[in-house]
Amino acid sequence: MPNIVILTGAGISAESGIETFRAETGLWAQHNVEDVATPEGFVRDPQLVVNFYNARRAHGASALPNAAHEALARLEAENDGEVLIVTQNVDDLHERGGAQNVLHMHGSLGSALCASCEHRWPAPMEMNVGDACPACSAPSARPDIVWFGEIPYQMDRIIDALGRADIFAAIGTSGNVYPAAGFVAEAARIGAQTVEINLEPSAVGSQFDNAIMGPATQTVPAWVDDILKGR
Ligand code: OAD
Repeated sequence: MPNIVILTGAGISAESGIETFRAETGLWAQHNVEDVATPEGFVRDPQLVVNFYNARRAHGASALPNAAHEALARLEAENDGEVLIVTQNVDDLHERGGAQNVLHMHGSLGSALCASCEHRWPAPMEMNVGDACPACSAPSARPDIVWFGEIPYQMDRIIDALGRADIFAAIGTSGNVYPAAGFVAEAARIGAQTVEINLEPSAVGSQFDNAIMGPATQTVPAWVDDILKGR
């Protein structure tokens, strides 16, 4: 009955048709990170930023969870110990794949945030610059996404869960963005078994005990089968 913390990144949603960030033709090859994923970019050109996330929200809504998302939901349902999915993804494919214990450390496309009073509410499919906050009426709506230079959400809960983990798995993440890229070191420090599941070794790949390389829709269901059989 191991306690398991799973960190996921864009690679787990790639086979659902959602672009990753750092692939040769990925989102960061098509858009300037400073323009669309920083607080300064939002001040400079809020319309560009809102349009970027509106497009991603629309695209995400038409995508379907894949076998990897569904396998993690099965692990959550059938494992005796705690299973926590910590995702860097802003899509909702883990939830639509059936998972319930999911933390979105980089925010969610489905949520809007008031930059004035920090109230959150379900984002409309199309957000507009200057949308009013339903709580304080300030025209300060922004996508509820953690941008570069901002602090990821739920770090206390994540560190807490890592402290109880017997197994830490990182799936489909390139290991370039901290603090998420540092979770393997934290998990190893407290003695958890660590495994990287990815297409290729990540930037922090050498820090894992084990590596499983291949497309997530194949590797993740097989890994989940092994865990549930106690292998
Ligand atoms: P990246 O685009 O950096 O990395 C995606 C990883 O998934 C790469 O290591 C790929 O090799 C792997 N991959 C691609 N297809 C796969 C597949 N079918 N099966 C398994 N693995 C596959 O995305 P992230 O690591 O998620 O943050 O990026 C981390 C953060 O950087 C994002 O949350 C985002 C971005 O800037 C913010 O916007 C704040």
